[in-house]
Amino acid sequence: MTGKQNNDKTKSLVLSSKELYNKGLNELKSLINEKEIEPRLDIIFIGNNKESEVYVNHKVIAGKKIGIDVIIHRFDEDAKQKEVVDSIKEINQMNENHGIIVQLPVPKTLNQFELINLIDPKKDVDGISSTNLGLLVQDKPYHYPCTPKGVVDLLKHYNVALEGANVCVINRSIIVGKPLLHMLLNENASVTLCHSKTKNLKEITNKSDIVVCAIGKPKFFNRSYFNKDTIVIDVGINRIDNEICGDVDFDDVMNHVKGITPVPGGIGKLTVLNLLKNTVSACMMLN
Ligand code: GUN
Repeated sequence: MTGKQNNDKTKSLVLSSKELYNKGLNELKSLINEKEIEPRLDIIFIGNNKESEVYVNHKVIAGKKIGIDVIIHRFDEDAKQKEVVDSIKEINQMNENHGIIVQLPVPKTLNQFELINLIDPKKDVDGISSTNLGLLVQDKPYHYPCTPKGVVDLLKHYNVALEGANVCVINRSIIVGKPLLHMLLNENASVTLCHSKTKNLKEITNKSDIVVCAIGKPKFFNRSYFNKDTIVIDVGINRIDNEICGDVDFDDVMNHVKGITPVPGGIGKLTVLNLLKNTVSACMMLN
């Protein structure tokens, strides 16, 4: 299969998240008004990663739209572990906030897992602390990780069968690949988790019903990676000059697969929505 160009033409379904996102945001706004709650999300932001600035800004704007206060705690690139640890311990104890996240990546000098694991599991709205990931394996976390939940929700929204499906996930991070593996297993899918050291990636993707691409390389995946019956989920958000694009070469792949998510307008929006949903649910749990 490797190297074979998929020149089969078909009409691809574009799996947009627009409807799910708008509906979800409106429902959250109504819930906040109806329950008269004041959810607050605190973001620990260390360093000056430009992409993180953009992501955090999206979270602030979306939160503001529906009545969720988003507070950013900024630390310098050379912040010491103890300084951030002490601050998270303090923020954890506050009654005013309900969700807390450490924006990733953190500078390489810091131990990200120690920071994440300090967050109270009920306030860990990223769902990636050791407690929540452990509970996820049992399918009972306080909060589901936001991007993996977005992937599963979007597939269900478009009635893509997960039970018995062969799914290839190309990412092994703590925030995407590892939790997504378990969420898909909990849906009775058969999952192959691939990464930078995987041999014969193209053979695996070509045999899969669903392929989740999250490698952070703009337009890396062309149509030769997929067959005409594949559903392609693009989790990448990359910038080329001023254009935002995914890890999949959308123009090359479109109409050569069964379905494909656009970037922007795909999984990214659902990550933000799920973060806000988790914050509201944390607020109701803690009140
Ligand atoms: N960096 C990129 N996406 C995310 C996310 O969803 N949560 C956190 N904490 N960091 C990120």
